Amino acid sequence: MRVLVTGGAGYIGSHGVRELREAGHEVAVLDDLSYGHREAVPSDVPLIHADLADASALRRGLEGADAVIHFAGLLSVAQSVHDPASYYRANVVKGLALLDAMIAAGVRRIVFSSTCAVYGVPVRVPIDEDHPQDPINSYGATKRAFERALLDYARAGLLHAVALRYFNAAGCHPDGSLGEDHAPEVHLIPLAVDAALGRGAGLTIHGDDYDTPDGTCVRDYIHVQDLARAHVAALGLEAGEPFQAFNLGTGRGRSVREVVTAVERVTGLPVAVTTGPRRAGDPPMLVAQAYRVRETMGFAPRWLDLEAIVDTAARWRRDHPRGYGGRH
Ligand SMILES: NC(=O)c1ccc[n+]([C@@H]2O[C@H](COP(=O)([O-])OP(=O)(O)OC[C@H]3O[C@@H](n4cnc5c(N)ncnc54)[C@H](O)[C@@H]3O)[C@@H](O)[C@H]2O)c1
Repeated sequence: MRVLVTGGAGYIGSHGVRELREAGHEVAVLDDLSYGHREAVPSDVPLIHADLADASALRRGLEGADAVIHFAGLLSVAQSVHDPASYYRANVVKGLALLDAMIAAGVRRIVFSSTCAVYGVPVRVPIDEDHPQDPINSYGATKRAFERALLDYARAGLLHAVALRYFNAAGCHPDGSLGEDHAPEVHLIPLAVDAALGRGAGLTIHGDDYDTPDGTCVRDYIHVQDLARAHVAALGLEAGEPFQAFNLGTGRGRSVREVVTAVERVTGLPVAVTTGPRRAGDPPMLVAQAYRVRETMGFAPRWLDLEAIVDTAARWRRDHPRGYGGRH
């Protein structure tokens, strides 16, 4: 297939591009490079440097395409709580511009990067796809709103849509060529690795008084290469409803303290930790029940060992102290 990948210069999107090409698909990337990196896009992949709302750039990217994988968007929970307008604009308004352009171009298949944040505070864990949806931050609300648009467009016969609800993306490509380079970095594993490597001011744990086994938040970390593989599988999904949603996680929850311990073991270095207050918008425990994706697409994550996942992140972080800005 010919696939337009929005956000393909970003962390998960760049891994998606790699897996798509390895599976034999032809890829073009549309990315405004607001958070992505030109260096993360292979030189022989066309990169359309443009905003999602740029209709003529979308027309170019969609010409001859069979499908879109839509990674582009804003993703900081904390930022979304303080600046909802930017999140609705980027994740909903610009997403709808993409759907308009797809329909105009006759491209009817889309795989969308959604999130477990659509569920809000879980009423049962592990969380299955039919769990009630009541997001507690604007990030989750915007992803839910866009999923709802996909459902309505699909019911109207305009699109075939798959929403993949990622739990926590983690790790880097095991060959060391692609990594996580967010500025500012907001994700736990890279922040903990930086703290171990003596970069930055140490790690802050946002609350240790949650109703969880060690009081810190529990998350389900799925390796970015597994996420990328799931997108390739979703592209091939022919049967079923015109809109389908799947959780992508390992089904195993890890607390913040467990992650810190894994980082210390992998790096052999202590992580300086400070405990701060809870952060607005953080549910205590998010763990996937991921049977549906296994039953429907035959997809299962291969990276199940937390230290192995952390090791790929730590190696990239150590070898790229300035991210894509240069190796040392
Ligand atoms: N990282 C996670 O743990 C996680 C978890 C659940 C869902 N997701 C979703 O996965 C997707 C990718 O996340 P990521 O961690 O790779 O983030 P990222 O910031 O590394 O990648 C997003 C990419 O989209 C681009 N982009 C943003 N707004 C754009 C716009 N208006 N026009 C064109 N390009 C634009 C950025 O430049 C960037 O390259 C996001 O939609 C995010 O919500 C991520």
